[in-house]
Amino acid sequence: MLAMEYRGPKRVRVTQKPMPEILHPEDAIVRVTRSCICGSDLHLYNGNVPDTRVGQTFGHEFTGVVEEIGSEVTKLKVGDNVLVPFNIACGKCIFCKQGLFGNCHEAAPQATAAGGFFGYSHITGGYDGGQAEYVRVPYADVSPTVIPPGMDIEDAVLLTDVVPTGYQAAEMGGIQTGDTVVVFGAGPVGIMAARCAWLFGAGRVIIIDKEDYRLEFARNYSKCEAYNFQEIGDPVVFIKKQTDWIGADVCIDAVGAEAAGNALQTITGRKTLLQAGSATAVHWAINAVRKGGVVSIVGVYGPTDNLVPIGNVLNKGITIRANQTAVKRHLPRLIEHVQNGVLNPKGLITHRLALEDIADGYRMFSAKLDNCIKTVLIPSTAGM
Ligand SMILES: NC(=O)c1ccc[n+]([C@@H]2O[C@H](COP(=O)([O-])OP(=O)(O)OC[C@H]3O[C@@H](n4cnc5c(N)ncnc54)[C@H](O)[C@@H]3O)[C@@H](O)[C@H]2O)c1
Ligand SMILES: [Zn+2]
Ligand SMILES: [Zn+2]
Repeated sequence: MLAMEYRGPKRVRVTQKPMPEILHPEDAIVRVTRSCICGSDLHLYNGNVPDTRVGQTFGHEFTGVVEEIGSEVTKLKVGDNVLVPFNIACGKCIFCKQGLFGNCHEAAPQATAAGGFFGYSHITGGYDGGQAEYVRVPYADVSPTVIPPGMDIEDAVLLTDVVPTGYQAAEMGGIQTGDTVVVFGAGPVGIMAARCAWLFGAGRVIIIDKEDYRLEFARNYSKCEAYNFQEIGDPVVFIKKQTDWIGADVCIDAVGAEAAGNALQTITGRKTLLQAGSATAVHWAINAVRKGGVVSIVGVYGPTDNLVPIGNVLNKGITIRANQTAVKRHLPRLIEHVQNGVLNPKGLITHRLALEDIADGYRMFSAKLDNCIKTVLIPSTAGM
């Protein structure tokens, strides 16, 4: 089968790989119908995630058709059209039982540090992902969800990560009615977080990025204020000015380890890898939130230390909430929101490419070319 393969930093290609097989009675094999490229893939692509191995197939946002099931799979049947959340979760451990499907204790060898994900580094299990024609899906009865009849496949594929992650970012913010919410990062995740902030009762939503085309997109899509951090001076002072020198009630970091905007962070976190990514956005979030406010982090950082203003966390009494999204927990509500038109996930998709063109897809998304917000890959075997 055709599959994307990582060859080292900034090098990906499409290659022939053996067909995946059922390795455990709870597995399924899924023929991919759509898969996306995510900001999380860029951390791998840029070589910023420890133990990302050459030969790995990325892709944790995909839909597909069930082709084969293991002997213990009871909820899915061959031929089902499914959306597959990015978390690999056993459904039975103490974390899964609490709905913490992003933190399963069984799905990855470094279980005390991270859960299992498709198409990520070996720290999260080293499972091959969905930027391929076929994927092995472990614990097939737990997270994969039959796509409701009538739902557009492009909405469905965004329910595997971007929509629940934007939603959980807003949820973790503990937004109270009328709150001012600042979202750092106007990628698909930040744009969705800004959109969802309104659902939780925000009174004002501000998004910050450096890409004008994304800010313009966010203004329209998320109905929020949008500012270019390269044009507003110090973004922390700017947010304080905007809030009567109080600070935002909630700050959301939807940027993660590739953040721009601070030379020291960029050199230590991205160029020399002396710390696990550049912590600029989380830094701004901590300093721009009001005393007693909430910082919600969905932007991904590596497991080791970053140069973050932790003393300010203490002195300001900030609540910081962070997690990998528990996609399965959010799906019932979010499917309803999509069906009722409250959310329009496919509105984020700007590019549709053949799987064979994946290297172009990565280059464009990474360099933010051609007004790219979200790219969907379509394997020639998709059949739809
Ligand atoms: N926690 C989760 O479960 C989860 C799920 C999906 C994605 N993510 C993470 O969310 C983050 C965003 O994903 P995406 O797909 O939207 O990525 P993306 O790369 O499309 O968007 C990131 C945006 O941040 C902007 N940016 C860079 N530095 C900034 C700064 N200092 N302040 C504000 N904006 C800045 C970039 O210009 C870019 O537009 C990534 O770190 C990704 O790994 C987390
Ligand atoms: Zn993703
Ligand atoms: Zn589990």
